Amino acid sequence: MTDIQNHSKSEAQSLEHYWMPFTANRQFKANPRMLAEADGMYYKDTSGRAILDGTAGLWCCNAGHGRREISEAVSHQIKQMDYAPSFQMGHPLAFELAERLAQISPQGLNKVFFTNSGSESVDSALKIAINYHRANGEPTRTRFIGRELGYHGVGFGGISVGGIGGNRKAFSQQLLPGVDHLPHTLDMQGNAFTRGMPTTGAEKADVLEQLVALHGAENIAAVIVEPMSGSAGVILPPEGYLKRLREITQKYGILLIFDEVITAFGRVGDAFASQRWGVTPDLITTAKALNNGAIPMGAVLIDDKIYDASMQGPDGIELFHGYTYSGHPVAAAAALATLNIYDNEKLFERSRELEGYFEDAMHSLKDLPNVIDIRNIGLVGAIQLSPSNKGIGKRGFDVFERCFAKGTLVRATADIIAISPPLIIDKQEIDQIVNTLADAIRATD
Ligand SMILES: Cc1ncc(COP(=O)(O)O)c(C=O)c1O
Repeated sequence: MTDIQNHSKSEAQSLEHYWMPFTANRQFKANPRMLAEADGMYYKDTSGRAILDGTAGLWCCNAGHGRREISEAVSHQIKQMDYAPSFQMGHPLAFELAERLAQISPQGLNKVFFTNSGSESVDSALKIAINYHRANGEPTRTRFIGRELGYHGVGFGGISVGGIGGNRKAFSQQLLPGVDHLPHTLDMQGNAFTRGMPTTGAEKADVLEQLVALHGAENIAAVIVEPMSGSAGVILPPEGYLKRLREITQKYGILLIFDEVITAFGRVGDAFASQRWGVTPDLITTAKALNNGAIPMGAVLIDDKIYDASMQGPDGIELFHGYTYSGHPVAAAAALATLNIYDNEKLFERSRELEGYFEDAMHSLKDLPNVIDIRNIGLVGAIQLSPSNKGIGKRGFDVFERCFAKGTLVRATADIIAISPPLIIDKQEIDQIVNTLADAIRATD
């Protein structure tokens, strides 16, 4: 019996105990989709069927799957030293990785705080912002401003500044106080089928001025936005919007946090979206593709001024925050190997080079039934479908299932299908994803 057959044999016995995250558990368990292997651009499911990965896992595996360089680095490190305490002790790999990240980060963001996920990166960045203002003699700056439709993970901090109703409603009485939201930038009336960044909508950043007038700049710690919203369905910033946010935050001494958990490491054609759009925030949150999804890891990149201010107080711990696994040696080894691959294979540049081809392929779906918008940048795109009369999300899920049945993994969020393949993808594989999608959209009522 092969490994794959062994897996499928045990499936029936083992499904009931695992409560799956962000999953319709009953629906899944009635009709499971199980992945067992991965190599290059492909998964294999438990029956041995090849599945083309149109989503880089969950926006993680930008260097493709089964990278020998990463598995060898992990295997070497786990033998050399499996774990080192992260509090009051160090190990060289964490420092090396921090240095490597500082080398590719936007100017000034030279300090790195390690976490284990995007959610933890977000909560860490929010705390670092408050800690900075206290150290800087402005302890009343504690409010946060997020944005509608923003996704910042699932910690209480993240869902508080996040703007996806479904993630907040069940917990609404216990969200952080002192949070406001900017309007989102999706304009389906004016900007549907825009290729790349929409040209209108930058003025939506000006709502920040109103929030400053309402609360007083002296009470606001930070604004947090995804430079491009990923989870809510690939919502691009209008031209000039991020620059405007930067100008207003700078004017009032408010920190700007870019949540780049999805956009970092080449997804939009540069190491960071911040670089693609020429706007430098004070903090950047990352995770996912940091080590190609191989081992849970996240990082917050921090401007020198924040770190320096925080080092001014009396001797002792400067930030009462951290994780048992911050800078985990095995995760760090995986990240260093991943950064080498990105560099050696010029994968960030590849994302930019393939952007035009990917864009044309995505927009070729424009005239299919129920397609109401297509958005794209770098190697990420979304097709928005109108909801069917069976309910919101049914049509999107149907397309997702049909694609999977035909051997292609796409991601459905409500009725939006997001495509974010590994950056090693070639043109023929882009065609394959788009052709499968076209058939699935045509077949779905
Ligand atoms: C922008 C953004 N922030 C935070 C997160 C949360 O990351 P994690 O699921 O690793 O906690 C995500 C996950 O998709 C994300 O897209």
